[in-house]
Formats: sequence, C-alpha cells, structure tokens
Amino acid sequence: MKAVKVADNIYWVGAIDWNIRNFHGYLTQKGTTYNAYLILDEKITLIDTVKSCFFDEMLARIRDVVDPAKIEYIVSNHVEMDHSGSIPSLMKIAVNASIITSVNGEKGLMAHYEKYYKDSKAAEGCWNFITVQSGDKLVLGRNTLEFLHTPMVHWPDNMVSFLREAGVLFSNDAFGQHIATSERFVDELAFDIAMKETAKYYANIALPYGRQVKNVLNAVSGMDIQIIAPSHGLIWRSGIKSVIDKYRKWSENEADNKAVIIYDTMWGSTEQIAYMIQSAFERKRIGTKMLSLKANHISDIMTHVLEAKYICVGSPTLNNGMMPDVAAFLCYLKGLAPKNRIGLAFGSYGWGGQSVGQVDEALRSMGFKMLDMIRIQYIPSEERLLNERQKLENELP
Ligand code: FEO
Repeated sequence: MKAVKVADNIYWVGAIDWNIRNFHGYLTQKGTTYNAYLILDEKITLIDTVKSCFFDEMLARIRDVVDPAKIEYIVSNHVEMDHSGSIPSLMKIAVNASIITSVNGEKGLMAHYEKYYKDSKAAEGCWNFITVQSGDKLVLGRNTLEFLHTPMVHWPDNMVSFLREAGVLFSNDAFGQHIATSERFVDELAFDIAMKETAKYYANIALPYGRQVKNVLNAVSGMDIQIIAPSHGLIWRSGIKSVIDKYRKWSENEADNKAVIIYDTMWGSTEQIAYMIQSAFERKRIGTKMLSLKANHISDIMTHVLEAKYICVGSPTLNNGMMPDVAAFLCYLKGLAPKNRIGLAFGSYGWGGQSVGQVDEALRSMGFKMLDMIRIQYIPSEERLLNERQKLENELP
C-alpha cells in the first residue's frame, strides 16, 4: 500500500472501498474512498482517518512515508464514523498524539468512542483533545493549519482545515464524491464523471443545508485555494472554480428550466399520464427526464432533482393511498428539502383515488408552488390525455 503525494510533504493515506453499494441509503454504484491526509512537518499531522475496517490500509499507507507512532496531531474535521472510525486504533499507536477538533467534535468523539477512550485512559493516560474555534491557527513547523467551523455541513461538529502555505483546503465531506478509483485526482478522470458524482453527493448529503453551505463559501472565498482535498473521492487540483461555482448555484437552490417526472405505475395508466406530461413540457421546449421508480434509485433521482425547476410525481391509488415506492421517495425528498420548485401531482385510479391528492399535499407541504393535479380514472382515453396536455401547456410559461 503506497501513499500518494498530493503536494510537497502532503500525502493521501486513505482507503479505497471498492465494494460498498449503500451508504446510509445512498446508492454508491461506484464505491467510495475514505481520504486521510498526512502532513510531514515538525509536527507530523494526520487529517482525518478512515472507516474502522480500513484501518490497516490507512496504516500501511502512513508507514510508506513515516512511522505512525510519530504522529503528533490528528485533526478530526468530522465525527461521522467513516472519518473518525480509526481514531481509537490509531491512538494505540500514536500514543502521544493530540486530537484537534471542534468543541462539538470532542463531544461527538467522546460519545462515539467512550469505551475506547476509557480503555486508553486506564492504559495510557487519556486522549488529549485540543479544541479549536473558527479562525484558530495551529503551527506545525513551516506550515500553519487554520480551522473554519462549518456546522451542519452536514453534522454539528463539521469543520474544514486550510494549510495556507500550500493552499490546500481539507474540506472533509464538502466537494467530495463517492467514487472508488485508483486515480486520486479529478484531472486523472473524465471531468464530467467527477462533476456528476459531486452533484449526486451534494443532492443527497448537503442539499438541506444551503444556508450553511453559503456561509462556508463566503468564508473560503478569501482563501488562495490551490487544492481541495475532500474526504471522499477525487482531489481537486484543477476545476476548483467550476466546483465552487456549482456549490454556489446548488446552495442558492437555483434550478434550471427543466422537469423531472417521477412515477410508479400499476397497470401502465399512470405511466401513460407521465408520458403525456413529458410531451407537454417538450412542446414548451422545457427539457425533461422520465424517472420510473421501478428503474431508478431515489438517490439517483435526487441528482436530477437538484437542478430541475419542475418536480412532477405520479402514483396510482393502492389501498387508499399512494404506491410504497412513491411514499418512500416523497419522504426522502422532504428530508432533503429542495426549495423554489414547482410541483405537479398526477396518477390514475380505479375507485377512491386518494393517491394524487396525497402526493399534491406532500409536495405542497415542502413549499412547492403546485400546478393543477391530474387525476384520471382507469385507462386514460386519447381524448382525455390530449385535453390534459393542453391544460398543462396553458399553465406552463
Ligand atoms: Fe463522509 Fe459525513 O461523513
């Protein structure tokens, strides 16, 4: 296992998780990486660690450049266990290391690792925490680390660290992507793949925290960033302006003039309505994406929702309600809280027909401005579809 040089005296020493396919509900078809970074200076410093089951891989990469016992600072930018999970094992080797983290970080680490902390307290004294505030600096020798708290992007403990002399922003979850590759840098892979996975990551992780993301972007705007080193996926040493511009757009909930049509269908009638809606948008020259919930995972659908102004959701009625796939999607969508969107509920029914009203209500509760719902009994006739298409076209700009 080799360390990968990121810049002079800075190395990637993380782990590649080739096989993970579900990351707390997020479908990770391409796997992921857990990125840890080693800074060789008078004070040898590790930025974040890796998921506990990848500890040996991280340790081997650290050993490729330095004896891990010599690590003096472990910066914990984020408590979530994909980044802090190897701290307990590392603290048994780097016994003199201090853990640099936010106040919430210390609380979170203590809550997660109390058992290990107590064990090490009995054996070796205790974990030495140094808590830092936003703007605090830590001199490593030739280099200085600066800390910026980024609460709720996406946990209360989050912070980023900036190595000013080298211009490296260790951004933790921000600007990351779930991609497992042997390449380490965005410029070693097709740019659009990196950007698409960055969008999926933002849509599924950071979307609810636009206001906080904007604060972070404003805070880093004065930094001379040469490299963004996130905690997942590829490192940005090019494309930095592009990814920051995208983050700004997403944090503003700025949507493009396009529509996503998300639906489940029982006997094909709701799907017929979905295609009619697609045709209405097409006739208005509004780009569309058809997303059957039978064929698309909700985390992939969110990538398309991220930049779409119109969110159309369809369900037939099943047992007086909507289809379970549709209910699960709406629950997920509500949690991720996209703003400034226009919604449309649609679907077919046999009797009762409650589903469309329920979808409409769910989208309204998310603050969406709603178009008139479309609700058709049994199999839609050609004439009815044409009428509904005309009505929808009249509503669209
Ligand atoms: Fe990659 Fe919030 O952890």
